[in-house]
Amino acid sequence: MCGIVGCVLDKKVAPTLLESIKTLEYRGYDSVGLSTVTDKINIKKGKGKIHEVDEKLDLADLDGNTGIAHVRWATHGNPTTKNAHPHNDCKNEISIVHNGIIGNYKDLKQDLINEGHVFKSDTDTEVISHLIEKYMAKNENLLEAVQKTVKELKGSYALAVISTKEPDKIIGARNESPLIVGVSEHGNYLASDATAILKETKKVIYLDNKELIELTKDNVKIMDYDLNPLEKKIETITWTAEMAEKGGYDHFMLKEIHEEPMVIKESLSEESKIKSIVRKFKNFNRICFVACGTSYHASLVGEYLIESLIGKPTDVILASEFDYFKKTLDDHTLVIFITQSGETADTLEAIKIANEKSETLAIVNVVGSSITREADHVIYTRAGPEIGVAATKTYLSQLICIYLLVAYLSDENEELLNKLYEISELSEQLLSKEEQIREIAKNYTDVNDFFYIGRGFNYPTALEGALKLKEITYIHGEGYAAGELKHGPLALIDENIPVVGIVPPGPSRNDTYTNLKEIESRGGDIIYLGANNDPSILEKENKLLFDPRIDETLAPLLYIIDLQLLAYYISIERGIDPDKPKNLAKSVTVK
Ligand code: G6P
Repeated sequence: MCGIVGCVLDKKVAPTLLESIKTLEYRGYDSVGLSTVTDKINIKKGKGKIHEVDEKLDLADLDGNTGIAHVRWATHGNPTTKNAHPHNDCKNEISIVHNGIIGNYKDLKQDLINEGHVFKSDTDTEVISHLIEKYMAKNENLLEAVQKTVKELKGSYALAVISTKEPDKIIGARNESPLIVGVSEHGNYLASDATAILKETKKVIYLDNKELIELTKDNVKIMDYDLNPLEKKIETITWTAEMAEKGGYDHFMLKEIHEEPMVIKESLSEESKIKSIVRKFKNFNRICFVACGTSYHASLVGEYLIESLIGKPTDVILASEFDYFKKTLDDHTLVIFITQSGETADTLEAIKIANEKSETLAIVNVVGSSITREADHVIYTRAGPEIGVAATKTYLSQLICIYLLVAYLSDENEELLNKLYEISELSEQLLSKEEQIREIAKNYTDVNDFFYIGRGFNYPTALEGALKLKEITYIHGEGYAAGELKHGPLALIDENIPVVGIVPPGPSRNDTYTNLKEIESRGGDIIYLGANNDPSILEKENKLLFDPRIDETLAPLLYIIDLQLLAYYISIERGIDPDKPKNLAKSVTVK
């Protein structure tokens, strides 16, 4: 949801800014812009994806050793060049980039207009550059002007500001939107997340809310909003630059799917940490998961596992709906937040509320992300950076952590643990079906709707399969609990609506299979996902087969891989870039 970078280096910054901002494009691709300082503000910006704008404007062709850059996912103001960041003040002496939303921008804008400021965009952001201008006109230096400005802002922001008056520095500020500092011998950096600066440095400082940063080539000063200096620890990132590159694959999404067998192993290596965290939990009699998107579907698998294997009452709440349920929390509830980014605004808001009453655990992929500073306990999912907007490998890593958690919540369930290690071996074989899935995909490029049905643990698999389809193919996909289909959606079924039937071996197999028969006898076109020793499935033409050791309890971990590939290849056949689906962003840092 918008990405920002800034750096002050011992060389021209624009080429570095361009490379860095490309790695943040997954946060938004409505527009891109860069500005640098020399004796003036030099700015290039335009609507569209980075490579499109770069072809037209040659974005790296800007002088100056201090600069900032932005990719935008539009909230206030259409995705146009006029609304693209950076935004300048009236005299073009100040330039800023911003990620977040300024809630009180309308009032501020009106006051500034009354004072004579002229606005050029429809964004909430532009008030910030004019406020800084106003304070600098009162002889405040850049840092003080930003300090006064942030005290007037209500809302969320990660900011980077440059000015011709002090051309060798960037002032940054963070409140409720992610921002990190990178330090290197060639200069210093600010960025929305670590992927942006992996090529430049591994040394980072994680910022907290209501902190100001003064960045020069040789120095980083971090202060509170009263300008008191703060001591912050420099940490070393373990991710590498290669992890955030395509590595020969056509798309990040395909690369990330191929990494899943490795990710399963990496996440399993968290077993001993999960075991020790479980020992620290206070007494609780209820679990409540809170998440959004794909992480919500991982949470639903958690609910089925915990309720059916342990018998503990469990709820799953969408983070954006959390407010309606908060009164049910108490000190006997364990609230588990699942989030890949650790920055989803709704999830962050929910954890703050939950912390007041309950013990909280975050299962998160990005080290140092905002949620890690809110939760009582943190489990890292070890998936490495995920760049494709549609979550794939991080879903698998979340599930592995949830299964491990369930194994230890149920007194070290040896049987479940052994099965998980077996799954890790079986996952390698799955990718050999890729060509077959590609062929199946070719038959479904022109359909308008898809149903995905599954039962029990695999009802969430159906929901997640349908979500992947919607996200990257723009085909309407609907996940349904197999037994529910006849209570409505069956009326829609005909040969034009394909149905993905998830029927792994296990106690639910026969009931789900019966539901598929009901569809078949009404002319439905079914893609069966089931065991390679299931005679009824073997005789079907349209099928994806799995090792029978993957029973219904474990199927959420591996059947989903085929559904991710199916969505990926339908997307390719339809000529869509699956890494950058329209209207979506990977990290949703606004409510
Ligand atoms: C966005 C992403 C999804 C993700 C969801 C939740 O919508 O496009 O892939 O599942 O946010 O994100 P989180 O980082 O909290 O898991």
